[in-house]
Amino acid sequence: MTCSIAPGKIILFGEHFVVKGAPAIGFAVSKYAKVCVEDGYFQVISKQTGNIEQGSVLYRAVKRLITYANSIFKCDEDVRILVDSEIPVGSGMGSSAALSVALAHAYLTHCNASFDKKLVNELAYEAEKEVHSKPSGIDNTLATFGGFLKYRSGVFEKLDIRLGDEVGFLVVNTNLKRQTGIIVEEVLRLYEKYREVLENVYTAASVLVEKALKSLRERDYESIGRLMLLNHGLLWTIGVSHEINDLIVHKLVGKGCYGAKLSGAGRGGIVIGFVNKSLSTRIEEELRSEGFEVFRVNPDYEGVRSV
Ligand code: MEV
Repeated sequence: MTCSIAPGKIILFGEHFVVKGAPAIGFAVSKYAKVCVEDGYFQVISKQTGNIEQGSVLYRAVKRLITYANSIFKCDEDVRILVDSEIPVGSGMGSSAALSVALAHAYLTHCNASFDKKLVNELAYEAEKEVHSKPSGIDNTLATFGGFLKYRSGVFEKLDIRLGDEVGFLVVNTNLKRQTGIIVEEVLRLYEKYREVLENVYTAASVLVEKALKSLRERDYESIGRLMLLNHGLLWTIGVSHEINDLIVHKLVGKGCYGAKLSGAGRGGIVIGFVNKSLSTRIEEELRSEGFEVFRVNPDYEGVRSV
């Protein structure tokens, strides 16, 4: 049996504004999807949900990836595929991309193909097209290469950022599910209606990302935290926050995080707090006792790999 893992991702700065050409920063996180491939008749089995039915999105994505791989290498298509993921689904943490990347890596390894990560990323993007109609490619790129990435208008730039071991992130899952596409469309309509006002907000978001890059490189944790709060405020301005997002941001900062913001599409989804690890256990326990679903993540700098 051949197994690989690939990390999920979080958007740290710039979501939504990126849709209209502003830059954004995302990073791979220490929550993983694992895929194992072994000889057998074609079957996809999830550790969480059991046998994956033909016709389901996951099944179609797996088939599409394998067919694509076989158009490049001649591999054995009769394989049993076992998937297991600790990344919350529908939370904006790139769960489907992590699965696709882990599958591409495990399948190519199983085939004894000679490949590089670029090909893994290409195969995973093919599967992502089955799941999301127009994926930007950021999720699979982060799951493949790990680390921090800046992206703008379809161009990705790997960033030379490495945070110290003394800091990490808390993720609070609101469990409010939303449809990204609908929120994105509403934001675009708001932009058209109040263009003269919002143009300046979008410019501020672009400047903010450039400043955040500098703070991340310099490991200026106070500044990173402040910029996260400013970014949350801009997201509030364009209407994608929710009272639960705002409440969690206030709680995270009140309990000692450097900063916090919603991450991803918003109106629920997840909130992230940037924290000194000396405080994370206490904050995590307090939030849990208040009924919140919270977990810790660190940046993953490695990306997909065999296990
Ligand atoms: C969703 O995770 C991120 C958004 O910026 C949408 C997108 O970039 O496609 C809201």
